[in-house]
Amino acid sequence: MTHDDHEWWRTAVIYQVYPRSFADADGDGTGDLRGITARLEHVADLGADAIWLSPFYPSPQADGGYDVADYRDVDPRYGDLQDADDLLERAHTLGLRVVVDLVPNHCSDQHTLFRRALAAPPGSPERALFHFRDGGGPGGDEPPNDWESMFQGPAWTRVTEADGTPGQWYLHLFAPEQPDWNWDDRRVHDEFETTLRFWLDRGVDGFRVDVCDAIVKAPGLPDWPHATHGVVEPVDGVMPPMWDQEGIHDVFRAWRRILDEYEGPRILCAEAWLPPERAARIVRPDEMHQAFNFAYLSLPWDAAAIRDTVDTSLAANTAVGAPTTWVLSNHDVMRHASRFGYDGPVELESGVGVDDPQPDRALGLRRARAATLVMLGLPGSAYLYQGEELGLPEVTTLPDDVRQDPVWERSGHRTRGRDGCRVPLPWTADGPSFGFGASADTWLPQPEDFGTFAVAEQTGDPASTLELYRAALAFRASSGLAAGELRWLEERGTADAGLLAWTTGPVTVVANTGTAPVALPAGTIVLRSVPDAVTEGMLAPDAAVWIRA
Ligand code: NOJ
Repeated sequence: MTHDDHEWWRTAVIYQVYPRSFADADGDGTGDLRGITARLEHVADLGADAIWLSPFYPSPQADGGYDVADYRDVDPRYGDLQDADDLLERAHTLGLRVVVDLVPNHCSDQHTLFRRALAAPPGSPERALFHFRDGGGPGGDEPPNDWESMFQGPAWTRVTEADGTPGQWYLHLFAPEQPDWNWDDRRVHDEFETTLRFWLDRGVDGFRVDVCDAIVKAPGLPDWPHATHGVVEPVDGVMPPMWDQEGIHDVFRAWRRILDEYEGPRILCAEAWLPPERAARIVRPDEMHQAFNFAYLSLPWDAAAIRDTVDTSLAANTAVGAPTTWVLSNHDVMRHASRFGYDGPVELESGVGVDDPQPDRALGLRRARAATLVMLGLPGSAYLYQGEELGLPEVTTLPDDVRQDPVWERSGHRTRGRDGCRVPLPWTADGPSFGFGASADTWLPQPEDFGTFAVAEQTGDPASTLELYRAALAFRASSGLAAGELRWLEERGTADAGLLAWTTGPVTVVANTGTAPVALPAGTIVLRSVPDAVTEGMLAPDAAVWIRA
């Protein structure tokens, strides 16, 4: 740890656990909290500082738990509150902090307050907690505006009123089972402040805040004829009426005041698909601590593009005194070991089917390992997604009839979605589900070769991806590189095509995204992304090294 404890989050490596797919203690084919607790040592051994748990709250699972029916309990599939307490205690004993997911933009259509809103008449206080509107057109048959759901189709669903007649419409930026809260209503603020305190009192160290930039909508919900995909850019200088409205910042300031009341610090991390300069406004000193860097996650394996985004990200965050974060994968995007196995741009969230062009696995993994040394060699905080330390590929061969991502149905079976990065983890080479649990019938099927990626298979093999991660995290922590200041070694334009080279702290990082070998600066190589990365002082294509000057 290079910073004092109080500043842990500035350089932290935070490991994302997707509870459904991490480890299954009760043998029902779905991961659970006791499974996580039993396997936490893996995360501690890896050298991470904290875990972030995707939602484990009661939920019909219309969107993998991001449809929350009760913010202050545990879904019986995952265990109970005692299991959550045990997980926290075990994590803290192992020196791991625990960040949980807060989902404030929408709940589940099974949430008590939404059920009450449906049962109440138009114009009632119950309905005011959500965005209910009369429809347009004759008979109110048209949605109130032209907004599209992020999962395709209109962002509005019409309800049937108590008397059986077609009634009002409610807004859902995601699935119809995920009604958006109305943050113009003070009671919504109170509800979430109670939830924050509930988990803070139980000892969590922070919150990752789901689509936090969408909670406040522009007054009047004006039409917006542009689709949103990936990082949201302003159109003619105007942000879309559902993203990054000024009102979000007061909410974050109020939450920050609550977190600051607790011994800590406890942290807030923004999930907002915004360009670095807009995301940086969320991490001003009195708002959140960190924001995900989705501009970085969206990059191709290309030195010039990486350098540009590193520069703009560091500049934007440094200007507000916040650390920059780095991330390559999460539960919403194609795993980077597969993404980098394609030449050309890749749709991050669309998924791949068995009949689609398949990634080049060896190339993807080689680049992924180099990309890992690039990411972990940057100053700031880094997020890892479970399984990336195993070099796990996206599962691109899932049968269509097992798909669970709501976008698959909503798109009329055109967009496969995100299931391929959510397949349960392999822990051992054999066993009914490669050590995931006692059942072979896992909620998404594992491919036959998953055992070759297992934790037990890779442990102790110095050439494995797992040992590369362990070594990189250990060196990152002991060298203090994450607290350093980045200095490029070459002037822009003078560098070889594909060369990325910088120093931070006592470490020089060199990566080669090009097609020809590049010369390495002097110094002792402390880590190489692949065993054949360096020959006679030259760094091979699609490789990276860390050098101690
Ligand atoms: C972002 C989450 O990461 C994703 O999984 C979810 O579908 C949407 N937000 C909606 O909650």
